[in-house]
Amino acid sequence: VSGAMAAERALAMATCTAPVNIAVIKYWGKRDTDLILPINSSLSVTLHQDQLKTTTTAAASRDFTEDRLWLNGAEVDVGHPRVQACLREVRRLARKRRGGSEDAATLSLLSYKVHIASENNFPTAAGLASSAAGYACLVSALARLYGVEDELSEVARRGSGSACRSMWGGFVQWQRGERPDGTDSLAHQVAPETHWPELRVLVLVVSGQKKPVASTAGMQTSVETSPLLKHRAEVVVPERLAQMMRHIRERDFEGFGQLAMRDSNQFHATCLDTFPPIFYLNDLSRHIIALAHRYNAHHGHTKVAYTFDAGPNAVIFALADTVDEFVEVVRRSFPPATNGDQFVRGLPVGSAALPQELVATVVTEPVPGAVQYILHTKPGPGPQLVDDPSQHLLGADGLPRHCT
Ligand code: DP6
Repeated sequence: VSGAMAAERALAMATCTAPVNIAVIKYWGKRDTDLILPINSSLSVTLHQDQLKTTTTAAASRDFTEDRLWLNGAEVDVGHPRVQACLREVRRLARKRRGGSEDAATLSLLSYKVHIASENNFPTAAGLASSAAGYACLVSALARLYGVEDELSEVARRGSGSACRSMWGGFVQWQRGERPDGTDSLAHQVAPETHWPELRVLVLVVSGQKKPVASTAGMQTSVETSPLLKHRAEVVVPERLAQMMRHIRERDFEGFGQLAMRDSNQFHATCLDTFPPIFYLNDLSRHIIALAHRYNAHHGHTKVAYTFDAGPNAVIFALADTVDEFVEVVRRSFPPATNGDQFVRGLPVGSAALPQELVATVVTEPVPGAVQYILHTKPGPGPQLVDDPSQHLLGADGLPRHCT
């Protein structure tokens, strides 16, 4: 039993899952750091939750004595300003929305302390941006708990800018908005995940990553120092957004892939243009970039497209009929260390025999062990409600079911 209906009981609880997203027109730079308002609009692909998801349970009880938060089983500080902003905003919507008979139940629920537990189904060590899924999931679970049905991307945005895009499935645009109060800085769906059934995503998780400069700090230095970022936000992105929307609408992989690569490269160019400069790409990222270009050149058109966020992991877009061959190319280029770990995870990948000529021109300089593993996934839906009470991350006592 979840939500306001259960408020008369001792404990109300709701569980949701939310996806990771990867931008193909990047968000980098805020015009308001408190409200998290961006200097440009952005566009992303939501990844499937079968491979990458966050699960969050939110509970309220008159027996709880303080707000508490657990991430992957370990208790963390619930006072984090961005967590507090999300809590405050969902509660505000819950109060605003209520005018009817359920008022009393919701009001008592709103007066209770909350316990929140959140877990990822992928290793945090994989360096996959988990804050977008995390805040989207937090906001979804809280909204469910309090019976809020409003548009919630505006609230998720307060947790992490990119989180607002994880409130929708498929292809999602975050509109920068014009208003100083941020009420028009929202995410909306451009096309559902079913729109482009052949599209696939390969996450190349690279080994031995160092902790990079956090996006929040990095992008602020970029806003303050990079003239290229200013030009990008004012001139380049508006044109590219319109182009990217057209490529997606027409399912034009050539156009989509070319533009995704160029936009990733320009984002990293603005990082180099930041002073002091920020480096998210490393030697291995550059290896993967060169490999993708050699592979495309061999085929004479865009078969794979890379994009990199604020870290060295590569995300590769391809159509389904390219996956088997390209995964074999990656396996040959970065021969896995034989430690028994599965090299290819996620959706199934078939075997492929590489033509000798392809090997000769594309697999030029193998780097053993450099790629830890490949995760094969595809576009997927937005946040989901988990109905099955056995899936709650908190027990009847309001404490995490499994701690680490
Ligand atoms: C490079 O959303 O993590 O992944 O708003 O400060 O929380 P904050 O930053 P965040 O930045 C993501 C930057 C990016 C590009 C993108 O996802 O669009």
